[in-house]
Amino acid sequence: MRLLNRREFNGLWVALGSFASPTGTAGAASTGAARTAKFRDGTVVPALGQGSAGLGKGKHPHAVEEEAVHTGLSLGMTMIDTAEVYDSEEFIGRAIAGQRNRVFLVSKVWPNHVAGNGVMRACEASLERLGTDHLDLYLLHWPNGVTNLSSVVTAFENLRSAAKIRAWGVSNFKVSDMEDLFRIPKGDSCATNQLPYSLADRGIERDLLPWCEQHGMPVMAYSPLGGTGASLLRDPTLVRIGAAHGCSAAAVALAWTIRNGNVIAIPESGSVAHVKENAVALSLTLTPQELQSLDAAYPLPNR
Ligand SMILES: NC(=O)c1ccc[n+]([C@@H]2O[C@H](COP(=O)([O-])OP(=O)(O)OC[C@H]3O[C@@H](n4cnc5c(N)ncnc54)[C@H](OP(=O)(O)O)[C@@H]3O)[C@@H](O)[C@H]2O)c1
Repeated sequence: MRLLNRREFNGLWVALGSFASPTGTAGAASTGAARTAKFRDGTVVPALGQGSAGLGKGKHPHAVEEEAVHTGLSLGMTMIDTAEVYDSEEFIGRAIAGQRNRVFLVSKVWPNHVAGNGVMRACEASLERLGTDHLDLYLLHWPNGVTNLSSVVTAFENLRSAAKIRAWGVSNFKVSDMEDLFRIPKGDSCATNQLPYSLADRGIERDLLPWCEQHGMPVMAYSPLGGTGASLLRDPTLVRIGAAHGCSAAAVALAWTIRNGNVIAIPESGSVAHVKENAVALSLTLTPQELQSLDAAYPLPNR
């Protein structure tokens, strides 16, 4: 039997339905097998997903962006991240039509919309735009302006009981916000904190990442390529390490982000070629020397 190349391997892995298995492997594989992360309820997801804040807005033709999302799904990037404020939910709904059961779908409620029964209304509207009856994960987008966090937790738990969402979490919460959350009844049911994290933005390693690790909570890393324009990818160290592995600087940057098993990176791309490059990170293992070089090029910032 011929050996599968890395891309075929990732596709096969996801085709076998490894994501969302409550009894799947713990933590991340680190031996070249596709990396995963595990939520506290036992759900296992590939450690690389797809962001969508800029999709469906004409940067690339719609058909190209849809093909990019399909390519990501077939290569194992099955978590798709959106939000009510991105104006990308309808695009994602169309892109995943007929493939909903392959996707781990994440959306977010904006903090201005949580008063009264706002969380429920926002969730229903997101479900409608996405053309689905449930979200796999629903996040509070920012803590700013939320005066009654307890009522948001209650609303999330009610949505979970009604099977509209499978799990809930937060985004852009500092350690003090997480501690406030965990003091609220059921606040410790939070599945994740979605945060900015890349080689160029390592601040969460100081406190938030260890805090989440101690609480058995994977972090979702947004802007893992440095954000719009992917400024990180011109870096010569990344390019050199990529050349040694026969892959792109993007794959190296993403492999670095998901190296420890407690981070799920959600790079965004509307380009099929870029998505193919990014997917390589799922099975790319960086050597200790390469990790050291990247550490030297991008040291942890002082406080
Ligand atoms: N929770 C929050 O507050 C929050 C905030 C920001 C973002 N997010 C989420 O995180 C996702 C990703 O973050 P982001 O979009 O800020 O940053 P990012 O993923 O670091 O970078 C996206 C940029 O990288 C380019 N790119 C992707 N792959 C590439 C490759 N292989 N080579 C060269 N360029 C490549 C994309 O352009 P092409 O399309 O041309 O490939 C796009 O310009 C968002 O879509 C959103 O879902 C969440």
